[in-house]
Amino acid sequence: MCGIVGAVSTRNIVPVLVQGLQRLEYRGYDSCGVAVVAQQPQLGQAAGLQRARSTSRVAELAEQVNNPTGGLQGMTGIAHTRWATHGAPAVHNAHPHFSHGAGKPTDGAQARIALVHNGIIENHEELRAQLQAQGYAFVSQTDTEVMVHLIDSLYQGDVLQAVMQAVAQLKGAFAIAVIAKDEPGRVIGARAGSPLILGVGTNEHFLASDAMALAGVTDQIVHLAEGDVVDVQLNTYAVYDASHQLVHRQVLTVQTHSGAAELGPYRHYMQKEIFEQPRAIADTLEGIEGIVPELFDQPHLPAQAANVFADIDNVLILACGTSYYSGCVAKYWLESLAQIPCQVEVASEYRYRDSVPNPRSLVVTITQSGETADTLAALRHAQSLGMLHTLTVCNVATSAMVRECKLAYITRAGVEIGVASTKAFTTQLAGLFLLTLALAKSKNRLQLEVEAQHLKAMRHLPVALQSVLALEPQIIAWAQDFADKENALFLGRGMHYPIALEGALKLKEISYIHAEAYPAGELKHGPLALVTSAMPVVTVAPNDALLEKLKSNLEEVRARGGVLYVLADADSRIRSGEGLHVIRMPEHYGVLSPLLHVVPLQLLAYHTACARGTDVDKPRNLAKSVTVE
Ligand code: M6R
Repeated sequence: MCGIVGAVSTRNIVPVLVQGLQRLEYRGYDSCGVAVVAQQPQLGQAAGLQRARSTSRVAELAEQVNNPTGGLQGMTGIAHTRWATHGAPAVHNAHPHFSHGAGKPTDGAQARIALVHNGIIENHEELRAQLQAQGYAFVSQTDTEVMVHLIDSLYQGDVLQAVMQAVAQLKGAFAIAVIAKDEPGRVIGARAGSPLILGVGTNEHFLASDAMALAGVTDQIVHLAEGDVVDVQLNTYAVYDASHQLVHRQVLTVQTHSGAAELGPYRHYMQKEIFEQPRAIADTLEGIEGIVPELFDQPHLPAQAANVFADIDNVLILACGTSYYSGCVAKYWLESLAQIPCQVEVASEYRYRDSVPNPRSLVVTITQSGETADTLAALRHAQSLGMLHTLTVCNVATSAMVRECKLAYITRAGVEIGVASTKAFTTQLAGLFLLTLALAKSKNRLQLEVEAQHLKAMRHLPVALQSVLALEPQIIAWAQDFADKENALFLGRGMHYPIALEGALKLKEISYIHAEAYPAGELKHGPLALVTSAMPVVTVAPNDALLEKLKSNLEEVRARGGVLYVLADADSRIRSGEGLHVIRMPEHYGVLSPLLHVVPLQLLAYHTACARGTDVDKPRNLAKSVTVE
């Protein structure tokens, strides 16, 4: 949610800031803006803080700032792409926010402090009242604006000191970048609860929400810790911890994936990412010769997975959205293949209810980004209850989640840009299946020949996925039927019920069609009342033990005039007919079938959204990385 970039350089830094925003746009795209300390009167600018903001996309902002007559230039600057929390997506709510001082007119040229923010300030109302009493004029509805005025109220010529004093008064989550009119060559950053990294360059330094924003600029990255405040200057930087002590933070060389942002032959990132799944699964499973606990150890920590696996007697999965659904599939695997009790919790709910902690639980968080605020908070809650065996299945090796868990399985989906998660989901399933096998083996419940069969099936997954992707033309034909619908039902049974849930989420998210998923047997307990010829019913129908039961559920729909769209395995013996459209999956894939059956549902959502003309990669009201609660 919201992306931040900041920079101090000897060159005009505006193009770098705007390019950074383009790479961070997936985090939020309600509005965007950039501010600089204009310090080059020879370029036709008055000294002082200047900004440009837009409620359109970053491309429009780029046009504004590059305009030869009214453009923006500066060597110190901050920039922001917003996902609105407080205040509508409007220019006056767009960041950067300015403070002009107490009792001063709100004219841009006179501003003293500028700030960008990611997160939510919970005590903003109280602070706003205090600052208004001091004479500060508020021009936005944002919680952010209190911070810029608070810093201004504490400012006595040293913006670092003012930020340090201000953050001590803030409650909530934030990452901020701050510049001051009278201190060109300096950007102050601070983080508590929202991600912020420092980029180390040569004669220039940067701040950003994630390293991808700095691709092609620097690959030398410092992950700031909770409570850190950083003083970023031209030739130096200094990091202070929450108690204001100067601290050393390690500089890491990271892969910043500059090429990942290329669309290639695809129309949208989501389409590209769906088609990348065979490669993503192959990469995620690369090098795995056998099932050993060490697969889950972190390279920089002492090996401990074997001991942890021996000590646990149940699994608690915490995740949100699509990642939650992958956890729901894993529950079936863990309880059937490893015979380990498993509970799956929506992370945003878990920490707000009374639960019974079990120190012998393996707490598994699942997250593509590794920065989801709800999932991080749920992990910390579990830890605070004494559950210290923690493992994450995560796609970002340098994320807060990986740093905060003892064990990790890093999926290798590559950067996922489309807001609707696709390759992250299937790679999470691959990681969770490996975890199931590892736990089964550690409990002596996995015979060697069964292990070998599972490994063989996993290695064949990329080929099996290619065959499913080849069904795209048939799915496009279905999507034409869905394009003018306003509602849809998704049915599945057993471990394909979470796949139905995921299919419904995909359709809602990008086509804005209202979709609900049910375990097929639940239909007759209520939702059947919704079934008419205007309500397409998508059914995931693999040839498993529940197929015959599922066929009865389908007849119940047909008898009421419902139109069925069935994904059946080749040997399911379900044939197209009146009110019944069938696509045959290439092969039945046993317990790994959810990885294949989700792909046509991703394609169905994608092509339906295209037919409806929505903004597929940036669906309304959403953002890729949900770093606020
Ligand atoms: O980064 P995470 O996996 O923690 O994100 C969790 C959800 O926000 C995410 O899966 C969301 O539901 C997707 N937009 C779904 O497509």
